[in-house]
Amino acid sequence: MITVKDIAFVRYQVTDLASMEQFLLDFGLHQVARTELALYMRAAGAEHHSHISELGDRSAPVGFGLLAQSLADLERLAAHLDLTVEDNPDPGGGKRVRFTDPAGFVVDVIHGQARHEPLATRAPLAMNPSVQRQRFGEKVRVARRPSSVMRLGHVAILVPNVQEMLAFYHNVLGFRVSDTYWAGNKQNTIAAFLHCGLGEQWTDHHTIALVTTQDGLARFDHCAFEVLDLDDLFQGGEYLRARNYKHSWGVGRHVQGSQIFDYWRDPFGNKIEHWTDGDLVNDDMPVGHAEISNEEMSQWAPPLMPDFYE
Ligand SMILES: [Fe+2]
Repeated sequence: MITVKDIAFVRYQVTDLASMEQFLLDFGLHQVARTELALYMRAAGAEHHSHISELGDRSAPVGFGLLAQSLADLERLAAHLDLTVEDNPDPGGGKRVRFTDPAGFVVDVIHGQARHEPLATRAPLAMNPSVQRQRFGEKVRVARRPSSVMRLGHVAILVPNVQEMLAFYHNVLGFRVSDTYWAGNKQNTIAAFLHCGLGEQWTDHHTIALVTTQDGLARFDHCAFEVLDLDDLFQGGEYLRARNYKHSWGVGRHVQGSQIFDYWRDPFGNKIEHWTDGDLVNDDMPVGHAEISNEEMSQWAPPLMPDFYE
């Protein structure tokens, strides 16, 4: 077992790099590299890139990248899977171990990739809750602009066999379960939210979410990017709305992970989430097991439309 400290990037195949780039710029990412065949976009944080689009003859999710805690972890992973540690050919370099997971996603576990100076953003806004004032003599003025996307937070994937994936991501990559959902009876686990196994260190409630697919086909449900703060989520959403991008669901607050969320569709129909104010967990927290329902998807939100699941 190795330690993964975070998710690094998501990788999609698309039929047109230019329209994906324009959408991602409006969503709040920044270009780091573009060739004839691929587009690499970064967030404001230090990771080299968080979103990769590769030109192909159809639109499809390909896989994702995970950050190994150390080079020794990468070497241990390679030995365990009978693979080799290779030079990472993507911009930013470093080393990688590439494999296909049990559901068929191409996973790059990487280490030593170049990092950026974080991009400048405004400071998070101090709020004035009624019983805990924090802002004195200061006005709130936020610019109308794309969200300040800080980092990739998680990917949610639809898979034929949640238990098989759970076992793989726990036994091989050290992920821990934060919460699960059951349907019908408590033995029938149909979704699992996994956090990086970092011991006592606090980490996102989920870095990978596994959800049982209804049609047997593995694919992404969505990828999710953390934005600067609440105003950044709302006004960044208005920025996308003004440019006629397809909205999916939100704004609301999830149950599992508690994020305030807003879901959009990229030009190829992929669901992509802005979120803020998520829960942090560590390996000592009890694992939850709740019955799945539409009510379990949010604590408050506009009605969930059937096309959310398409
Ligand atoms: Fe999400």
